[in-house]
Amino acid sequence: MTFARISGTGGYLPERVMTNHELETIVDTSDEWIRDRSGIRQRHIAADNETTSDMALSAAREALAAAKVEVADIDLIIVATTTPDRVFPSVACTVQRKLGIHDIPAFDIHAACSGFMFALDVANRFVKTGGASNVLVIGAEIYSRILDWSDRATCVLFGDGAGAVVLQAAEEAGIVSTHIHSNGKHEELLYVSGSVGDRGTERQSDAAFIKMRGNEIFRKAVAALGNIARETLAGNGITKSDLSWLVPHQANLRIISATAKKLCLPMERVVVTVDQHANTSSASIPLALDVAVRDGRIKRGDLLLFEAFGAGLTWGSALVKY
Ligand code: ACO
Repeated sequence: MTFARISGTGGYLPERVMTNHELETIVDTSDEWIRDRSGIRQRHIAADNETTSDMALSAAREALAAAKVEVADIDLIIVATTTPDRVFPSVACTVQRKLGIHDIPAFDIHAACSGFMFALDVANRFVKTGGASNVLVIGAEIYSRILDWSDRATCVLFGDGAGAVVLQAAEEAGIVSTHIHSNGKHEELLYVSGSVGDRGTERQSDAAFIKMRGNEIFRKAVAALGNIARETLAGNGITKSDLSWLVPHQANLRIISATAKKLCLPMERVVVTVDQHANTSSASIPLALDVAVRDGRIKRGDLLLFEAFGAGLTWGSALVKY
C-alpha cells in the first residue's frame, strides 16, 4: 500500500511588516484592541510588484530544498488560494511555468481559509492511488489586495504569505487521514464583494473587499473545529493524549485556545504564528508548520493535528505523522 508523507516544508513572508501601531494611523483602532480580540501583533504585506505566484514560488523552492527533491521530479502542483494573480490561468500553472516544468497537472483549489486542508486531502488521494509521487502542495494568499483599508473590523486581521510542503509516496503514513466539510448555507457570513459575476449588473463595482460578520463566524468556527477534532481522533481510534502538536489555521488566538482546551492540549503544544503573521488564510497552516519544523519543535515521528475553518463555509483537518 502507498501512503503520502511530508518530506519538506517551506515558507515565504513579504519583507514589509505592518504593526498594529501602524494600523492605528490608518483606522480607528488600537494595538490593545487587536491583541486582546485576536492575538495579532503584526502582519506582513506584499510589495506592490509582488504577486501570489511569486510568494508561492519562493515557498515551493524552500520546500523542494528541504525535501531534497529536484524540480524535474515534481509530478503534480496544487495551490490553495483565493487571491490568484488573475482569474485565470491558475496560480499553480504560473508556478509551474516559473519552475520551468511542463506536462504535469497543476491546478488551484479554492476553499478560503480551509484551502490547504482541501489541497492536502486531494494531494493525498493522488499519491495513495498512484496518480502522483512527488507533489507540491502550496497555500499562498495576498489578502492585502482584497482588504477595505477603511474597515477596521476586517483590515486588522489579515496578512500576506505562502507556505508549501512536498508530499512524497512512502511505505508508511505520513498523512494518516484527512477530513473536509462545506456548508454553503452561511455564505453571507464571510464573502468577497464586487467580483466578476457582478459585471454588467447593478452590483458592479471596481473593488473586491472582504465582508465578514466576525462574531457569528467566531462562534461557528469554535463549534466546527471542536467537532472536526473529535471526528479526526475517533476516526483513527486515538485519544487527545496521543497528539504531539496542534498546528491550527491562524485566524484568532481565542479560537485557537478554545480548540486547544477542548483537546486538553497545553498552549506549549500548539504552534501559534497568528501574533506574527495575522490570518494568511490558506497559507497559515503550511507557514506555521514550516516555522515549527525549522525551529526544531516539530520532529520526525510527531503526531500532528492540522485544522482550519473559513469562508464557504468550509472546514477541514488532517492527522499527520511527521
Ligand atoms: N478596533 C477597535 N474596535 C473594533 C475593531 C477594531 N479593529 N473592529 C471592531 N471593533 C468594535 C466593533 O465596532 C464593536 O463595537 P460596538 O460594541 O461599539 O459595536 C466591538 O469592537 C466588538 O466587535 P465584535 O465584532 O463583537 O468583536 P469580537 O470580540 O467578535 O472580535 C473578531 C472581532 C476579532 C473579528 C472576531 O469576531 C473573530 O476573530 N472572528 C472570526 C474571524 C475568522 O475566524 N474568520 C474566519 C477565517 S477568514 C476566511 O475564511 C477568509
